[in-house]
Amino acid sequence: MRMIIDEGIKNKSRFDLENNIDKAFLQEEINYVLTKIDENLKDFTYNFPSAASVNNVYEKVDNIGWTSCFWTGMLWLAYEITGDKKYRKVAEIQLESYKKRIEEEIDIDTHDLGFLYSLSVVASYKLTGNEESKYVALKAADKLMERYFDKAGIIQAWGNLSDPKERGRMIIDCCMNLPLLYWATEVTGDRRYYEAAHNHVSKAAKYIVREDASTFHTYYMDTETGEAKYGATHQGYSDNSCWSRGQAWSVYGFPLSYIYTGEQELLNIATKTTNYFLNRLPEDYVAYWDLVFIEGTEERDSSAAAIAACGLLELSKNLPLTNEYKKFYENAALKIVKSLAESYTTKNFKESNGILLHAVYSKPHARGVDECNIWGDYFYFEALVRLMKSWNLYW
Ligand code: GLY
Repeated sequence: MRMIIDEGIKNKSRFDLENNIDKAFLQEEINYVLTKIDENLKDFTYNFPSAASVNNVYEKVDNIGWTSCFWTGMLWLAYEITGDKKYRKVAEIQLESYKKRIEEEIDIDTHDLGFLYSLSVVASYKLTGNEESKYVALKAADKLMERYFDKAGIIQAWGNLSDPKERGRMIIDCCMNLPLLYWATEVTGDRRYYEAAHNHVSKAAKYIVREDASTFHTYYMDTETGEAKYGATHQGYSDNSCWSRGQAWSVYGFPLSYIYTGEQELLNIATKTTNYFLNRLPEDYVAYWDLVFIEGTEERDSSAAAIAACGLLELSKNLPLTNEYKKFYENAALKIVKSLAESYTTKNFKESNGILLHAVYSKPHARGVDECNIWGDYFYFEALVRLMKSWNLYW
């Protein structure tokens, strides 16, 4: 059996002190996020913010791509934390566009149906019991299942299933798409969704996670024979480096599959990829866009930091009290959130309609480099909500 190395936490003193984040600090940050949501509410009722900003301003786009759900998810979080129906009203207006998207098959050649439908429509079902949301989310889960290759046991990430360039390519981000399938089994009793998700996460753990506990961004499988082929990057610095956001998806994604499967090995792997991530954080705890960089002038990816903060909290919550890392992970999340709050928000950048500055969508594609991105804003808000109250996952 292949061994994945656990580096441990190399400099524990960076993460062992309790942080001075208290409820008042969190409330102030949440208030800031709510102010920005309020400012954006009118513009983004029938439209969505673009994936990344331009000069730190999001443009208005339709419900396309993989990121519309992050804005809808923020509305649900805002509704939960305030009880104010104005947020729910806009989120519910948006449900129609998710229904139309899946029924009319608009831009759905993607595994990101998991992200898209978990944070919008599954959230609606979980929070309000909306039966139509259940129907729409199950349609999305069925569509996601069409991307599953039985022989290889994986879900293809992008593109048409017969496109030879994309066929059999799985990516670490997909760990976040699996909860839609686990949820579908929970509400229908049909095990096919669970089996596909479980097989996929097992293959991701086996092939995407390298022996040193870093991750490939993407990995090709032979869909005819089931054979593992090779890893390659898409958004990272190189095929052999470790894209920061990909590593952050692993920090959060493996614990999510643990919750649904109870498989201990998934938590073990998450602790290893998490330690790899924490050991490469610069002074202010906000990762560069690729973990190959640990100092210097390359851009940070504040969105990777926000995702990791949520993942660290979820991982810590699921580890037993006796686990040596449990407390460090919670402290690490607090350190990251504090750093984001103090140095990365748009508070001194009033012309921005975003929340977190200094994220990178894709440096190799020169897309959204040192800009706000909407998933960074979402995960920052989720982290604040998690720290403020006991929160039931939309995932
Ligand atoms: N899931 C796509 C990205 O993280 O950029």
